[in-house]
Amino acid sequence: QQFEQVVEDLVQSGEVKLWKAQQLVEQLGEASGDRAERPPSVASGKGGVGYGKIILLGEHSVVYGRHALAAPIGAAIEATVEDAEHGIQLIIPTWNVTESMEWGAAPRNSLEKSVHMLLGELGIEQVPLSIQVHAGIPRAMGLGGSAAMAVAVIRAVSERFGLELSDERVNELAYASEQVAHGRASGIDNSVATYGQTILFRRGDPPTIRSVPVHTAAPIVIGMTGREGLTAAMVSRVAEARESSRPAYERIFDEIDTLTLQACDELEQGDLVQLGRCMDLCHGLLNALQVSTHELEQLVELARTHGALGAKLTGGGGGGAMITLAREPEQAEHIERAMRAAGYRAFRTSL
Ligand code: MEV
Repeated sequence: QQFEQVVEDLVQSGEVKLWKAQQLVEQLGEASGDRAERPPSVASGKGGVGYGKIILLGEHSVVYGRHALAAPIGAAIEATVEDAEHGIQLIIPTWNVTESMEWGAAPRNSLEKSVHMLLGELGIEQVPLSIQVHAGIPRAMGLGGSAAMAVAVIRAVSERFGLELSDERVNELAYASEQVAHGRASGIDNSVATYGQTILFRRGDPPTIRSVPVHTAAPIVIGMTGREGLTAAMVSRVAEARESSRPAYERIFDEIDTLTLQACDELEQGDLVQLGRCMDLCHGLLNALQVSTHELEQLVELARTHGALGAKLTGGGGGGAMITLAREPEQAEHIERAMRAAGYRAFRTSL
């Protein structure tokens, strides 16, 4: 029945395209209340793929040269590139983005700027292109959506033009794109988006990226505030505050660094109780940096009252998402349900 409805709507829309079908399927799911029960979809592996991420510990301090521990989530962004009549079309139905650009015209926003920059770096000029993006990650929720999109687009362009880019080059270009979005990006989001592995990351030129072996499937619940967290704005806010109290801020960053390194050891050894403690303490320090919000606090509190091993905001804050480390899958399910009952979107994943 849903199939027939989608076909009918597709024909009526006059856009008989894969992206339009995906949009219609998602709209139908939303209308039937189905959406809240599903995690963001995992990309099928066709075209170019970029992975979404959670930062387990180390956001913000990673901008100032400290370590951060991050992991991919079971959600990704997939892009395909097709020929077009003219210019460059960028279509991201789940983010409500339809950009039509002309070659040579000045970019009107950071998304256009980033696409122009990437195509220029890849040596693609004056070729009419349609870039279609299936985003299985919400936008601006602290889950690495912008970096995953850049990686997916770079890989799709590379595939379309037979460029055979290495992962290192994909990561470098995605970092340049992140710099367009916010000039102080540490490079952690694009690194997870490229490699799709749990990593211990330290900023540098080149950055230090160590793959962290995870032997215990740790159940994670991601709670979303529904409020867009603008990473660039939060990173600037921390930068300004740091200017006026530099020693105090450096001490906080050092504390977060120590906790991050400890959390990395605990994760490798499979000690989830200690990992949870590190997360809780880190959330307190992020509070000190004033990047939390009322909704994030409510979600953290909810996770803790349901017995979570650890809970903290993830990513830039100021909205966006938080993560919960649960004791076992049943508890994760329970916590996810409690978050939904409180009016938040939530989904489960595991490390
Ligand atoms: C964003 O996911 C994490 C931040 O530390 C910014 C960055 O590292 O680029 C807030």
